[in-house]
Amino acid sequence: MEISDLRLWGARIAAWGAEYLSTLRSRPVRAQTNPGDIARAIASSPPEAPETFETIFADFERTVMPGITHWQHPRFFAYFPANASPPSVLAEYLTATLAAQCMLWQTSPAATELETVMIDWLRQMIGLPRGFSGVIQDSASSATLAALLTARERALGWAGNMKGLSGAPRLRVYVSEQCHSSIDKACWAAGIGQDNLVKLPASGPLISLDTGVLARAIEADIAAGHKPIAVVGLIGGTGAGATDDIEAVCNVARRHDLYVHVDAAWAGSAMICPEYRHLMKGAELADSFVFNPHKWLLTNFDCSAHFIRDPEALVKTLAIRPSFLRTHGRDGIVNFSEWSLPLGRRFRALKLWFMIRAYGVEQLRAMIRNHVAWSQELAERLAREPDFEITSAPILSLFTFRYAPAGVADLDALNERLVAAINDDGRIYLTATDFAGRRVIRFQVGQTYTTREDVALAFNVITSMARRMPIKPRPPA
Ligand SMILES: Cc1ncc(COP(=O)(O)O)c(C=O)c1O
Repeated sequence: MEISDLRLWGARIAAWGAEYLSTLRSRPVRAQTNPGDIARAIASSPPEAPETFETIFADFERTVMPGITHWQHPRFFAYFPANASPPSVLAEYLTATLAAQCMLWQTSPAATELETVMIDWLRQMIGLPRGFSGVIQDSASSATLAALLTARERALGWAGNMKGLSGAPRLRVYVSEQCHSSIDKACWAAGIGQDNLVKLPASGPLISLDTGVLARAIEADIAAGHKPIAVVGLIGGTGAGATDDIEAVCNVARRHDLYVHVDAAWAGSAMICPEYRHLMKGAELADSFVFNPHKWLLTNFDCSAHFIRDPEALVKTLAIRPSFLRTHGRDGIVNFSEWSLPLGRRFRALKLWFMIRAYGVEQLRAMIRNHVAWSQELAERLAREPDFEITSAPILSLFTFRYAPAGVADLDALNERLVAAINDDGRIYLTATDFAGRRVIRFQVGQTYTTREDVALAFNVITSMARRMPIKPRPPA
């Protein structure tokens, strides 16, 4: 393929993208293929001879598209959103064209400096105080791993990286039982171990961890000779939106000089609306805070904003500085590869810059407010149906519910089958989770193109399909 072909195909693919996004409602949200269908349709070995782009693109449409679950579909209500927007897509095209590797300031000064400014724009947008700086990571999982590595090194006097952990005391990390699996994985990868991740009960209207129990768990561990190193606070848990009292968490942690990392991967975007910031009260006391503009802030995956109060501790943990990477004579310059685990880095700041300027913060706030309002409207409508129950009240735009007609033998199995039937139907896409010992259905609104009518349609799909489900009655007592 020649550079000149990029002009032709770039224009054709841009037209295809606009058509795709504007006709998404006519497609089923979740891919309707079976495991292996797509792999079987792809040549099992690479071609020796070049193929025309016409052929390649035709195969993309014929072979790949049927196996795509449409995350940009306006009726995507599953998981959390991974929403996107035209200015962000266009920035990604430019990023791909430049294909710059942005590990050091000198390997792409503009990428580094734009990243510094965009992180500060995001800081201002969500109301974190001055004094937090940050970096764009590929994922919240990476940010959390970096945070726990920093906590580990700080607690071990910066000896863990050099000496390993054999001979070190048992390191302990505390978190709500509602935490995301990325916290477990970070503990595995940081050598802390699953057994040393202490999961604490969470309850109350915001499903918050009990900070009295937290304090006692830390004290008991110290008495047993273990070394508590960190608490991970949660704002907007994946299952049902669980949100800790970050201020209380930080106060407990501070008494024992523990590192506090806040995982606000999904809910962080909503903090651009001042009326929701009570959910992050105390975040200014934390050591680090992560949220994903690639979830709910119109920025294509991947883009995680990782804010840090003391970047020196992070850099001391992650910077290796082999001689070939030194930017001689440029001390004081930020090399973001020293703030993250991978050395190579994409130019991620451009899509934020395009997106924030194209919408302005006020339009972004309006989107979040609509999503929250529509989700709450749906929860209220379902709550009025006698055979449905709301199993966790909306936290921002997420709530859980279940279909609970009287006299059914196994409601968990019924709700599992209901979600499968709804997703096979294709008009909407939902996921199930376990909450308070029951199988429940999650509903979140967060897709870029969702309208109030889409949410209203979800009500019709859920209620009508539920009432058509074959039901196994409970045997008489
Ligand atoms: C609360 C929470 N934390 C962390 C993550 C992990 O995010 P990422 O995919 O960016 O690693 C998720 C993903 O959904 C999440 O919901």
